Amino acid sequence: MSRPARERRRVVSVEPVGPYVLVRVERGSLDPGAPGQFFMVEAPGRVLPRPMSLCLAPPGELAFLLDPIGPGTRALAAAEPGDRLHIFGPLGNGFRLDVARPLLVGGGIGVAPLPYLSDVLGQPPAVLGFRTAEHAEAAVLVPNAEVVLDPVLVTDVMPTDRDVLACGPEPMLSAIRALAPSAQLAWEAPMACGYGACYGCVVEIDGELKRLCVEGPVLEQEEELSFSS
Ligand SMILES: Cc1cc2nc3c(=O)[nH]c(=O)nc-3n(C[C@H](O)[C@H](O)[C@H](O)COP(=O)(O)OP(=O)(O)OC[C@H]3O[C@@H](n4cnc5c(N)ncnc54)[C@H](O)[C@@H]3O)c2cc1C
Ligand code: FES
Repeated sequence: MSRPARERRRVVSVEPVGPYVLVRVERGSLDPGAPGQFFMVEAPGRVLPRPMSLCLAPPGELAFLLDPIGPGTRALAAAEPGDRLHIFGPLGNGFRLDVARPLLVGGGIGVAPLPYLSDVLGQPPAVLGFRTAEHAEAAVLVPNAEVVLDPVLVTDVMPTDRDVLACGPEPMLSAIRALAPSAQLAWEAPMACGYGACYGCVVEIDGELKRLCVEGPVLEQEEELSFSS
């Protein structure tokens, strides 16, 4: 397992991908970790970092796909080449990669960890769902993807005879869990520290309160999750 490290890394580029933003930073000595793991990323001048899945790990770089929805992600999306971001990771548990017939499933900004996952698994088929055609521009990052737009749902077209690895909004993950017996699902909860110290990310797993940043964010289907707040 990769050892997390904290480094200040230079921004290489900031590119729009539909309404999302792809931020590439120099990798330095940071380990990319396993797909589905995350990094705490802090924009210049911000107090609190935000959890971000690793989107791409080309040689010498790490790339994050952001949905600029609030102050943290907007500040990251406004970074310019040459700015330095504080980056801490890789953190948490990623996807288990010993799957025979992978199918990647993503919804909205939940596609963020799938490009790296697709690279590592040899570009398996994927099903991606988006709210609008503009959001669906992010599908360019995931090879072999079938794209659906609202009101069609990923679960309307998803084959159920595959090993599903999914990331997306909670209702989408719950619907996938009902359909795919062995799905691995990457969940979200608000995270302040990312390494188990603040208890800000506590969720109920198998009837016990657990920290999603330590036990997850990727959980196996049989782990019963419900949000405590
Ligand atoms: C493991 C993990 C990986 C993530 N990877 C990515 C990624 O690759 N790209 C990306 O854009 N985002 C990702 N996120 C989500 C992102 O970190 C949060 O949405 C973050 O809070 C945004 O910060 P902000 O300051 O921009 O907005 P905030 O001010 O924190 O939030 C803006 C709005 O979003 C809502 N919100 C915030 N956090 C959550 C949450 N966790 N679940 C549901 N609603 C929430 C708030 O209620 C508020 O309405 C990830 C989250 C986790 C836990
Ligand atoms: S984010 Fe602090 S304990 Fe999980």
